[in-house]
Amino acid sequence: MQLTNEELRVKIDELKKKLSVTVVAHFYQRDEVFEVGDITGDSLELAMKTKEDNAEFVLFCGVGFMGQSVKVLSPEKRVVMPKIACCAMARMIDSMYFDESVKYLNDNGIPNENILPITYINSNADVKAKVGEMGGMVCTSSNAKKIITKALGEGKKILFVPDRCLGQNIANQMGLKSMVIGHEGNPQECDILCYDGFCSVHQLFTVDDIAFYRKKYPGILIATHPECDPAICDASDFVGSTSQLIKYIKEQPEDQKVAVGTEFNLVNRLRPKNTYVLSSTKPECPTMNETTLQDVYETLKAIDDGEPINEIEVDEKTQKWAKIALERMLEL
Ligand code: 13P
Ligand code: SF4
Repeated sequence: MQLTNEELRVKIDELKKKLSVTVVAHFYQRDEVFEVGDITGDSLELAMKTKEDNAEFVLFCGVGFMGQSVKVLSPEKRVVMPKIACCAMARMIDSMYFDESVKYLNDNGIPNENILPITYINSNADVKAKVGEMGGMVCTSSNAKKIITKALGEGKKILFVPDRCLGQNIANQMGLKSMVIGHEGNPQECDILCYDGFCSVHQLFTVDDIAFYRKKYPGILIATHPECDPAICDASDFVGSTSQLIKYIKEQPEDQKVAVGTEFNLVNRLRPKNTYVLSSTKPECPTMNETTLQDVYETLKAIDDGEPINEIEVDEKTQKWAKIALERMLEL
């Protein structure tokens, strides 16, 4: 018999009290899952707060690379995920495609010693490990500018993977020259060379959506995530990570209308009034939405039964180098 959400919440609370487990949930999770999170936040906050947590088990409600990052940073923790859902962007690159990108730069006259790779946290551990091994580091959407500023200090060209939009948006903000690998441009003349990956959810927002809202509600503010296309970010009043968007919108007067370009679940719980989803197509992240309250309950129950399911494992070599790449970011 299917349990109701209310019944599931009671059972989840009972199991949380009984077990040494911390439930972690990203802002894009369904409301009912987000509400049972002990730690909630954006990808950077989740990586940092979970590292400080002492429970034996971390039950991570999010996408695969996020649970993997916890395991990489704290290999002694047992990390389980109700659904090992893989972020569509993270899936666009693996270590082989990473090597091909390095080769493209080499073939264009940029040797390895002049390349500093940076990977967006939305990548799997094998890619983070490659980046760590080459002296590079991880960034998130909330600290990308800071990380790139630091990296540029080394006088090298930045290979930015996998999100071409985040790479180009930061380059535009900082007045740097960028190009997407394999597209038009001369790599020798660019500061940032971006891999051709993207988030399909954030590609749903269009310049026409912005024009529509500006015409319908003169004075409306447009706030978007830097995974949106550069044309969208250039036409926005504010661009920020999920936490930065939440802060910006909560600081607005109650009657200020804001249209937001990021995942639906986050936008929907922001404010009771005057907040709009910047798209006529519901921007739901399919993988973030895979995790249900029933899954959370079953994952807790499996721990209680002594047979944890969906446990994250990362091999030793990958863990070592991916950790170095993540820690270089956390040190900043
Ligand atoms: P944040 O780093 O802002 O949490 O974003 C993660 C993500 O997957 C956005 O699509
Ligand atoms: Fe990945 Fe996009 Fe979903 Fe974020 S919204 S987890 S980048 S697919």
